[in-house]
Amino acid sequence: MLICRTKQEWLDGRARMEGYGSIALVPTMGALHQGHLQLAEQANADHDQVVMTVFVNPLQFGEGEDFEHYPRQEEKDIEKAKAAGVDVLWLPAVEDIYAREPAVTVKVGQMSERLCGRHRSGHFDGMATVVMKFLQLVRPHAAYFGKKDGQQLAILTRMCEDLHLDVEVVGGETVREEDGLALSSRNVFLRDDERKEAPLLYKTLQEGYERIRHQNENPLNVEHETFAKLSERITASIDYVELWTYPGLEPLHENNTDEQLILAAAVRYSQARFIDNVIFKRP
Ligand code: PAJ
Repeated sequence: MLICRTKQEWLDGRARMEGYGSIALVPTMGALHQGHLQLAEQANADHDQVVMTVFVNPLQFGEGEDFEHYPRQEEKDIEKAKAAGVDVLWLPAVEDIYAREPAVTVKVGQMSERLCGRHRSGHFDGMATVVMKFLQLVRPHAAYFGKKDGQQLAILTRMCEDLHLDVEVVGGETVREEDGLALSSRNVFLRDDERKEAPLLYKTLQEGYERIRHQNENPLNVEHETFAKLSERITASIDYVELWTYPGLEPLHENNTDEQLILAAAVRYSQARFIDNVIFKRP
C-alpha cells in the first residue's frame, strides 16, 4: 500500500495509477472501524484500485463541536487500511486541502436544512466542499459512502447529479455491533452505562419501521411515537426523530418519486452526539 501525505505526494501517486484500471475512492475521517473497512472491501470488489483518504475536515465542524477531540489514530489506520485491500492511503494535512481561506465552497440547499442540518449549521456545506475537493483531486470512477450517514449519502448523490460530476456514488450498508449499535469512531466517547443503553436507539427506530411497513401505521404517527418511546428508554437528550422520503428528503405528503423513507434520529450523550437511521421501501 502506498502512503501519501502532502498534496504533491498524492499527485505523483495519482499519476502512477493511470493505466491500471478503474479507481474507487473511500473518503474517511479516520479512527477506522469495520464500517469504513467494509466500504473499502466493497470498493475493492468493484474496482481495480482503491484510494482511501483520512482527513478530519475542519470545515464540517461547527463551533463547540469535537474537531479538536475527534479520535486520531494514524498508525492503527494504516494497518487496517492495508488489511482491507486499500491500494493508496492519503493522509493530507489541513494545509494540503485548504491552502488558504476558501472563497468558493459548495452550498447545499433544502436537503441540508432537515435532520442533522438544523442542529449543525454549516456542517453539510463543509462536508460537501471537502468531498468535492477529494473528487477533483482523485478523479475516481466511483466513490463509496455509508448509509449510516443517510443524509450525507443523499446530499452527495444529489451534488454529483446537480453538478454533473462524472462519478458513481455507491452506498454501503451500516455495520453494527452484535447488539445493534452502529459502529462509529465516536463510540469510544460512550461511558459504560451509556454504551449499555445506546443500542436502544436502533431498536426503537427499527420498531418504528416495523409499525409502518408491517402494521400499516400512519408514518407521521410513528415519527411522534418513536420520539416518545426513545425519550422513555434512554437518558441521552434527543436532537430529533424525523421521517422523510429518501433520497430526496422531502415531506411525506408531497408528490415525489422517492421510493423509500428514512426514519432517523440523533441523540446527545455526555461526550458526543450519535446518529442512526432505517431506510426502507415506502409502504
Ligand atoms: P467518517 O465518519 O469517517 O465516515 C467515513 C465513511 O464511512 C462515511 O461514508 C460513513 O457513512 C461511513 N461509515 C461510518 N460508520 C459506518 C458504519 N457503521 N457502517 C457503514 N458505513 C459507515 O463521514 C465522514 O467521515 C465525513 O463526513 C467524510 C465523508 C469523510 C467527509 O469529511
